[in-house]
Amino acid sequence: MNAPRTWPAGWYELVARHGLAALLVLGSTLLGCDSGERSALADDNQAASGTSSGPSAGGSTSAAGTGSSSGGNGPSTGAGSLAEKYADHFPIGAAVGSWHLDTLGDVLEQDFNHLTCENAMKIQDIHPAEATFAWDEADRIADFARQKGMKLTGHTLLWHRQAPAWMFEGVTAGDAASLETLKMRLKAHIAAMVERYADVVDNWDVVNEALSDTAGKIYRDGPEGSTWYELFGSQDYIYFAFQYAKDALEESSPGSSAGKLYYNDYTATLKADKILTLLSWLKDEKGMQIDGVGFQSHEQLSWPSAADLQKAIDKVSGAGYKVKISELDITVYNDYPAGSFVAAPAVELTPELEAKQAKRLADLFALYRANKQHVTSVTFWGVSDDQTWLDNEPVPGRNDYPLLYGDAHTPKAARAAIMDF
Ligand code: GLA
Repeated sequence: MNAPRTWPAGWYELVARHGLAALLVLGSTLLGCDSGERSALADDNQAASGTSSGPSAGGSTSAAGTGSSSGGNGPSTGAGSLAEKYADHFPIGAAVGSWHLDTLGDVLEQDFNHLTCENAMKIQDIHPAEATFAWDEADRIADFARQKGMKLTGHTLLWHRQAPAWMFEGVTAGDAASLETLKMRLKAHIAAMVERYADVVDNWDVVNEALSDTAGKIYRDGPEGSTWYELFGSQDYIYFAFQYAKDALEESSPGSSAGKLYYNDYTATLKADKILTLLSWLKDEKGMQIDGVGFQSHEQLSWPSAADLQKAIDKVSGAGYKVKISELDITVYNDYPAGSFVAAPAVELTPELEAKQAKRLADLFALYRANKQHVTSVTFWGVSDDQTWLDNEPVPGRNDYPLLYGDAHTPKAARAAIMDF
């Protein structure tokens, strides 16, 4: 069905995303493996491959079309509008690349009122050389959003992955002068991004995934793949990124930074305390009050529990921060049945499995709705199952079915389930 993509370097991230037990078992030995760049990552290739991984004619017999809200022939978008249904709750977003605009424009327009660039705004993609910006794809997505009256998440101004080598060139840990060069480059990057998209971006993932997966360690450091931490010798880079974003927003329009500065990470149910430590450090020691936390929410069918998710939301909102669900998808696999990684065999999406996923999403959305005073948006990491990073992580070439629409771009049972309230 999908074009094969490349096996990623980052084991620790897969483990953290796919199970607490696995995290505990594998521990820090594997965590040290993530020193490579993510330049060949699935979704990066996906962006580069454009239409090559579009829906196959007569391919998988996935549940596309079996959803109860399916509305007839062709690329049906189902009954009603998801975004309208949630108008009194929060915006409904989708992570997209150009491919989605070309093939799923009608679905986007009907069901979503918020977009995230899946890759197009990552530094490596949009700023491939110090003097070169590659604006085209992000501009296209931003223009689509402007035309349709949608807003964007700016994803992401700083991440240890998909960061280009030029950013760190000539910079040496402990060398104050070269560190100033790095700060200047980061500041220039953030200023250019904010200036170009300030009108359409209503929240920025200023920093992505800066917290450690290791028990007892707060910040992701060099051995866990953060060149930023390694060169700064501390988590100070996180503060600088927020400060530069805030300054750039205030410069574009005074007061406009309010409500827009987010920290984004995965497995928030495991990391809530570390997140609070980071937020307190930013606020109390650096004088940097940010606005909210993105819970990526790459979830499993039965993990994390609703109770744990509620606890994490309570902790973050109780400390005065908003929560957004920033990268939601529900894998149909469990590769950690007993704590360590065992690749589950590929399956087709049977009606039973589809129903289970629909129930899971219905439960999650009920929880999001119950927390609507804290939740600022809910964004799916993609639209249809034929285009998902999970086809290649953690098992390359294994089809997954984590989204609201099936391979033929017809709505799955999950869409009807989250509309049913
Ligand atoms: C992380 C990043 C996203 C995307 C996903 C899936 O969650 O924040 O941009 O790359 O991984 O690969």
